[in-house]
Amino acid sequence: MAAIKTIGILTSGGDAPGMNAAIRAVTRASIFNGLRVKGIYRGYKGLITDEIKEFKTQDVSNIIQQGGTILKTARCDEFRTPEGRRQAYETLKKEEIDALVVIGGDGTLTGARQFTSEYDFPIVGLPGTIDNDIWGTNFTIGYDTALNTILDAVDKVRDTASSHERLFFIEVMGRDAGFLALNGAIASGAEAAIIPEISTEVDQLAELIEHGFRKSKNSSIVLVAESEITGGAMHYAERVKNEYPGYDVRVVILGHVQRGGSPTAYDRILASRLGEAAVEALLDGQRNVMMGINNNLIVAVPFTKAIKNDKPIDPELLKVLRTLSI
Ligand code: F6P
Repeated sequence: MAAIKTIGILTSGGDAPGMNAAIRAVTRASIFNGLRVKGIYRGYKGLITDEIKEFKTQDVSNIIQQGGTILKTARCDEFRTPEGRRQAYETLKKEEIDALVVIGGDGTLTGARQFTSEYDFPIVGLPGTIDNDIWGTNFTIGYDTALNTILDAVDKVRDTASSHERLFFIEVMGRDAGFLALNGAIASGAEAAIIPEISTEVDQLAELIEHGFRKSKNSSIVLVAESEITGGAMHYAERVKNEYPGYDVRVVILGHVQRGGSPTAYDRILASRLGEAAVEALLDGQRNVMMGINNNLIVAVPFTKAIKNDKPIDPELLKVLRTLSI
């Protein structure tokens, strides 16, 4: 295997708080180990169009606390084509980049996996997404910050919900995963979470809420994971309004506010540890793996496993929510 002299970094897919901390970690760990680093802008798109700049240590100064990604990000359809990937490979050769660290979610890792199946090129992935839906890692970079943003918003909604004695459906992100909704519900003391992994009938929900109102609660909060499977907060709110007109129902859709903001300490430390580990892994000859965290230990998860498997919801968390929301 040829020695690695230059590492390229990119961020792709939806941005997540902590991506900058990861860029900083990969850059500094590479330079610490005597390697050159190149930042690739706009994800796989920048690899195709050659938007690349060499990074020195000062290029990543003062970014650990910033949300978003200084490298910008994109969802790139061209990289899904063999021609796009061939062009990306040409750019890597031209720029003399010997290995890549890609930071992003499932789509990013799938792109990396496809590329390495066609070209003999070392890539290590880092899980960067607020959704926490990547198999093989307990947490993804950005998830903890997004969860805290959700809490901040739900706490505020609860003040008005309680003053007006209303029922609120609050929609959170997660694509097709319920981690943000379920853990957001537990942490905010919400009455219920509607998640794509578990089907929730409106009758069941109404009974739960009714029970709460009967037992001295004067307001209720239900977190709903966005998803075609759940139908979203609007869907549930409409049905409850029609079938149980006694409730004063309102909807809040948190949207992209969940993707922004300064990363929490947890996300910064996770990103720093994973970024450093990615460089070590490449220098150890590892490739086609994603660095993850399992029981607070750094692990290398093959792309094939991280991509193919659905990360399960822990039934214990469902039980905790049900038990504590009485
Ligand atoms: O994957 C992160 C995420 O924020 C999802 O939770 C959400 O479904 C999606 O990205 C939104 O993507 P976009 O910003 O492209 O609309």
